[in-house]
Amino acid sequence: MPSMCRLLPPVALLLLTSAGTRAADLPKAVVSLDPEWDRLLEKDNVTLQCQGAYPKEDNSTRWFHNGKPLSDQSSTYVIKDARVKDSGNYSCHTASFALSDPVQLKVHAGWLLLQAARWVLQEGEPLQLRCHSWKNTRVQKVQYFRNGRGQQFSHKNSEFHIRHAKRAHSGSYFCRAIIGKQNVSSEAVNVTVQGSAVPAISPFFLLWQIAFCLVMGFLFAVDTGLYFSAQRQLRSSLRKNINNKVTWSKSP
Ligand SMILES: *[C@@H]1O[C@H](CO)[C@@H](O)[C@H](O)[C@H]1NC(C)=O
Ligand SMILES: *[C@@H]1O[C@H](CO)[C@@H](O)[C@H](O)[C@H]1NC(C)=O
Ligand SMILES: *[C@@H]1O[C@H](CO)[C@@H](O)[C@H](O)[C@H]1NC(C)=O
Ligand SMILES: *[C@@H]1O[C@H](CO)[C@@H](O)[C@H](O)[C@H]1NC(C)=O
Ligand SMILES: *[C@@H]1O[C@H](CO)[C@@H](O)[C@H](O)[C@H]1NC(C)=O
Repeated sequence: MPSMCRLLPPVALLLLTSAGTRAADLPKAVVSLDPEWDRLLEKDNVTLQCQGAYPKEDNSTRWFHNGKPLSDQSSTYVIKDARVKDSGNYSCHTASFALSDPVQLKVHAGWLLLQAARWVLQEGEPLQLRCHSWKNTRVQKVQYFRNGRGQQFSHKNSEFHIRHAKRAHSGSYFCRAIIGKQNVSSEAVNVTVQGSAVPAISPFFLLWQIAFCLVMGFLFAVDTGLYFSAQRQLRSSLRKNINNKVTWSKSP
């Protein structure tokens, strides 16, 4: 107990200093997109939200496009009727949040575009692709391709969805559709499914199992040792009692 009490002041000091450093380097702001697509066609609309702006009307948000400051100081930055020159990296900071990581936006000129919430995902996560047409023009006979092979066909436009993506679902994807009387294909985009889930879990599980076995073995050894020593003590004390009785009976 006294040694623990002596430990307390340094621990308290440590906590105080770490709180101090945390206040010094602010948390990063985060740029999010609504809708979530980072690839757009011309004339699309997107709203960028600077998360970390609080309260929302505090006018402290600063936006940057490819490192150049934008005049907008609201917590949202709206891109209406997107143009190719709106492409690039967007970042923001606020009074209480440091400069965010950039979000890369790509505005394409064309009829069809493949969209996804994320292009790099972990094994087991859902993969969802969208075949988006310019100004949401009506499309027919939509087909998705991976590495040149047809994956899914629908007469009307529907999303391509894999509930639990595997590494084998990685590849170069594009979609094709009929718009009016034209047969149109989108550009191909790479999707990467990372398989870190398997090696990340199994060594930990193995270590956990080994630790468990060691602890159980140790407990068993201690338990057995205690049992035998207790038995030995019991036997020796019994023997002493008998000896005592023997001496008592002898003494008178
Ligand atoms: C973008 O917004 C404008 C006006 O709000 C709308 O007319 C237009 O259809 C939108 N663009 C798309 C591709 O939905
Ligand atoms: C933010 O700016 C607007 C107009 O530019 C102003 O009306 C408002 O009072 C400002 N808010 C704060 C908290 O400064
Ligand atoms: C945007 O950032 C990426 C890396 O995050 C970089 O490769 C790219 O060149 C940047 N684009 C522009 C226009 O600055
Ligand atoms: C679109 O064109 C490709 C060849 O470029 C062809 O194989 C495919 O059948 C066409 N799709 C339709 C629906 O006509
Ligand atoms: C897609 O991946 C292939 C092979 O992994 C690579 O050769 C190609 O450059 C990638 N394309 C893009 C646009 O990154």
